[in-house]
Amino acid sequence: MSTKISIVGLVLVALSLTSAQNDSDFLYGYFPDDFEWGFATASYQIEGGWNEDGKGENIWDEFTHRNPSPIKDNSTGDVACDSYHKYLEDVELLKNTGVNFYRFSISWSRIQPDGTNRTFNQAGIDYYNNLINALIANGIEPMVTLYHWDLPQALQAVGGWPNETIVQHFENYARVAYSYFGDRVKQWITFNEAFVVCQQGYGDGVHAPGIASPVQSYDCAHNVLKSHALAYRLYEREFKERQQGVCGITIDSGYYEPEDPTNPAHVEAAERAQTFKHGWYAFPIFFGDYPAVMRELIDLKSASEGLLESRLPSFDAYWSQQLNGSWDFLGLNHYTTELVVPENRTDPGWRGDQNTRTYQPEEWPASASVWLKVVPWGFRKLLNWIKNTYNNPLLLVTENGFSDTDAEGVNDQRRVDYYRDYTNNMLKAINLDGCNVKKYTAWSLMDNFEWAEGYTERFGVHYVNYTDPARPRTPKNSQRFLKQLFADNGFPPQ
Ligand SMILES: *[C@@H]1O[C@H](CO)[C@@H](O)[C@H](O)[C@H]1NC(C)=O
Ligand SMILES: *[C@@H]1O[C@H](CO)[C@@H](O)[C@H](O)[C@H]1NC(C)=O
Ligand SMILES: *[C@@H]1O[C@H](CO)[C@@H](O)[C@H](O)[C@H]1NC(C)=O
Ligand SMILES: *[C@@H]1O[C@H](CO)[C@@H](O)[C@H](O)[C@H]1NC(C)=O
Ligand SMILES: *[C@@H]1O[C@H](CO)[C@@H](O)[C@H](O)[C@H]1NC(C)=O
Ligand SMILES: *[C@@H]1O[C@H](CO)[C@@H](O)[C@H](O)[C@H]1NC(C)=O
Ligand SMILES: *[C@@H]1O[C@H](CO)[C@@H](O)[C@H](O)[C@H]1NC(C)=O
Repeated sequence: MSTKISIVGLVLVALSLTSAQNDSDFLYGYFPDDFEWGFATASYQIEGGWNEDGKGENIWDEFTHRNPSPIKDNSTGDVACDSYHKYLEDVELLKNTGVNFYRFSISWSRIQPDGTNRTFNQAGIDYYNNLINALIANGIEPMVTLYHWDLPQALQAVGGWPNETIVQHFENYARVAYSYFGDRVKQWITFNEAFVVCQQGYGDGVHAPGIASPVQSYDCAHNVLKSHALAYRLYEREFKERQQGVCGITIDSGYYEPEDPTNPAHVEAAERAQTFKHGWYAFPIFFGDYPAVMRELIDLKSASEGLLESRLPSFDAYWSQQLNGSWDFLGLNHYTTELVVPENRTDPGWRGDQNTRTYQPEEWPASASVWLKVVPWGFRKLLNWIKNTYNNPLLLVTENGFSDTDAEGVNDQRRVDYYRDYTNNMLKAINLDGCNVKKYTAWSLMDNFEWAEGYTERFGVHYVNYTDPARPRTPKNSQRFLKQLFADNGFPPQ
């Protein structure tokens, strides 16, 4: 009898210890009063209508139509979620979830079919006008990404992002967007995940246009940065005063943690990895030039390989000035964390150039994506790294989310846990650490075309049935969770 009681007692102590640890770790409380919530999507991933009403071909149309297909399930975005026809339903989903804003992207070749101002497609303008008007009629603020990876194919045919002439074409395109939509759109993002545009598209070649080159990814980055600067300066010069909006860029970054935080070489390697990833794009925009550690290492390696000039191009005084300070806010897409060890490498290109090796321990909780492990504390550490590195800029989280497969369906408990734990770390970063974060955007409103993974990975809070021609959307548990979080603006004390 007494033994039984003491066992019960021990179990109770153990249980309460666990939950006490849980409770003390979890921060109850609210986000600032002016904090805003929304969802993000991207044109190629949801629209479909790939050749309708005068739209031009883009590099993802070309890439997914290749034979053999470079896409895991041989799928395309030809129809995707059919948002080209179902956008009013999407607006309903947003309204039902209680968002403040919706982040979507414009398909460049839908409004300039060949990517230059020699062509213009009114039907594309009409589509985005209808979407923007429907959002505003429902009290949802539009946040527009100009470039979310679907480059007009005609521009890729002359070299794509590594060809410097693209910079002028991008400025012309931005002018069309500001002119037609800027009376109602007050939040502009020039590029989504410049890193992925250049490294996956021109460095590793796993995304459109499928080019694998240690040099082209750096040239791509250089022209993406110049394009951003011109588009930002154009807005600042000709539109801002009249339209009263803001313009920035979205840079994606994991958090890089030293494998052994007590080893200075590991700490230095993690800082290097973080700088090669985030600083490659953010340093020119915040400080007017690439990070010194990149300049040093890449120049050295290029020389030792016998190259006549460095793989990393340079900005002259004009471009440095255009870039320096070209932001009203910094957008951040964040999903996961990696551990870092130093390693002397000789493979040329962005990975080898940084002299690090990164990995994720097997035991970290998985998602459906090989690269995405669940590491909520890394989010808080990254927000603090950004605060410390760039003097606490106005930061908007423009994407964060979790992937599963068709098997989970609408019972997506792992996504609920991910959102709860990641947003709770964001709350700590804001309320305990003083990070200047003002918006949070969940990726994504609904399941969609996940690039090289096709439809095999699902990131939505609405389930999309791709075998049904009507592409019905069904709320998942995570939709109900986020709806409550948005309504509460935080985690009400229990
Ligand atoms: C809280 O503790 C329970 C076990 O008591 C565990 O299953 C759960 O994962 C913990 N939650 C968090 C957020 O750590
Ligand atoms: C994709 O197509 C290739 C032929 O090009 C075929 O071998 C493969 O089985 C297909 N994969 C799927 C998932 O349909
Ligand atoms: C088109 O772009 C060129 C520069 O590339 C510029 O000179 C011209 O004014 C632009 N035309 C329009 C209609 O925007
Ligand atoms: C760069 O693009 C221009 C057209 O904008 C083209 O005339 C030129 O040949 C291209 N350069 C390369 C190296 O492809
Ligand atoms: C960038 O701008 C800041 C502040 O305006 C200035 O201090 C800095 O010297 C500039 N950097 C470059 C490389 O010109
Ligand atoms: C890399 O090379 C340097 C110089 O040869 C050496 O001092 C250092 O220990 C090496 N680091 C690693 C991780 O091998
Ligand atoms: C998807 O739609 C098809 C065709 O309407 C239907 O047979 C199937 O049961 C649906 N799947 C789910 C998970 O709802």
